[in-house]
Amino acid sequence: MSPATPPPPPSSDAALRDRAVAAAVAQGLVSASDPVAGLLDVAGVRRSAAELRAAFEEFTAPGTPVLHAFAVKAASLVPVLRLLAREGLGCEVASPGELALARAAGVPPSRTVLDSPAKTPAELREALALGIAVNADSFGELDRLDALTASAPTASPLGVRVNPQLGGGSIDAMSTATDTSKFGVALRDADARERVVRAFLDRPWLTRLHAHVGSQGMPLELMADGVRVLYELAEEINAKAARAQVGTLDIGGGLPVNFASDAVSPAYRDYARLLHRTVPGLFGGRYGLVTEFGRSLLAKHGLVLARVEYTKSAGGRRIAVTHAGAQIATRTVFAPDAWPVRVAAYDAQGRPKTGDAVAQDVAGPCCFAGDLVARDRPLPPLEPGDHVALLDTGAYYFSTHFAYNSLPRPGVHGYAPGPDGGVRWATVRAAQRVAELVAESGGAYGDALTQL
Ligand SMILES: Cc1ncc(COP(=O)(O)O)c(C=O)c1O
Repeated sequence: MSPATPPPPPSSDAALRDRAVAAAVAQGLVSASDPVAGLLDVAGVRRSAAELRAAFEEFTAPGTPVLHAFAVKAASLVPVLRLLAREGLGCEVASPGELALARAAGVPPSRTVLDSPAKTPAELREALALGIAVNADSFGELDRLDALTASAPTASPLGVRVNPQLGGGSIDAMSTATDTSKFGVALRDADARERVVRAFLDRPWLTRLHAHVGSQGMPLELMADGVRVLYELAEEINAKAARAQVGTLDIGGGLPVNFASDAVSPAYRDYARLLHRTVPGLFGGRYGLVTEFGRSLLAKHGLVLARVEYTKSAGGRRIAVTHAGAQIATRTVFAPDAWPVRVAAYDAQGRPKTGDAVAQDVAGPCCFAGDLVARDRPLPPLEPGDHVALLDTGAYYFSTHFAYNSLPRPGVHGYAPGPDGGVRWATVRAAQRVAELVAESGGAYGDALTQL
């Protein structure tokens, strides 16, 4: 068992982040004509991947197969998926688009897992043909798998997602183990557990169980309890089958991220240790493991950098109108209490701003009043031409664009320390151009409706 690598002090990340902001401004990655971009700290991503691997290696019996399948929804960007693949991770995909991204990144089917509550027959057929692991979300989906596996043999490991119905966390929309969640087979409903056991006994090709009890806002104990329920169900099935039919447990993702400071808390090691205490048998080597972490691998390593276009005041409130709003921080804008983000102020050259903090609203460019990423936030007074950085936005923010007001998808750039205190850059995604926006908005069908 190898010990987990202790993380370097977060202050070095913060210093590199400041260097990256200044370099992004100096090199025009964020400018008057490209006023917003996502920046990603590549070394930080690598370190998180290494911490995840080390945390599980520390507790699992030698030789236990463990696949860390990155939840593609957290950063649907091909270079990010390839970077993580190089760091030993696979992909968890939940749509044909995400599967295509994983394949474009070169992630092999044997390291890909398909989850989704709404898989079409075509999606299932493609996954089975490729040999991708599939977690059925319902008995209805199992019926479809019956038909598909009868008509063509498959190398896909197949499993069932269950909902342990243990309750929710602090964000309703992220809580998938509530009584009435749409995900998985609700295990405590009348007859459900018996039906799941019977489903396995009737289908010798079912070999996996899956649970993902929620994302962000879930207490770690509740997450570990969900895994305990999964483990106990596997033991029950295997006892009734009189063989080790369930050979792999897919424990999902969901490790919460601290959005309040630079501290990485909880760490993967905290969770692995808690799992080891709560479900000791999980790591004993009788079960292969799959994890599906997303947010915790990337959030702390990304930021959205945006120019301040104007400042004004209304009703005594200072407002900085920036280019980062609902199009890029959708959850923060529509559910600000659940998804607060830290905002760092930088000057026109991208240097950290100093000065006595005054309360300001940080607004986005969208045409609705609630398009604010921070309200009444104490910050050094912002001026036109300054910059704001939305911190901890490396997951689910700049990769998950909301096309309101036909605002373009911003560019995304990876950074790493360069020689002589400089910064090296790589384009992850080019900023969308207006012509592309017109094309994806029916530009080729301009006359379509007038001719009907
Ligand atoms: C099935 C499944 N696995 C993994 C994840 C990733 O969760 P997180 O990004 O919180 O780790 C999600 C998120 O919605 C999910 O639905």
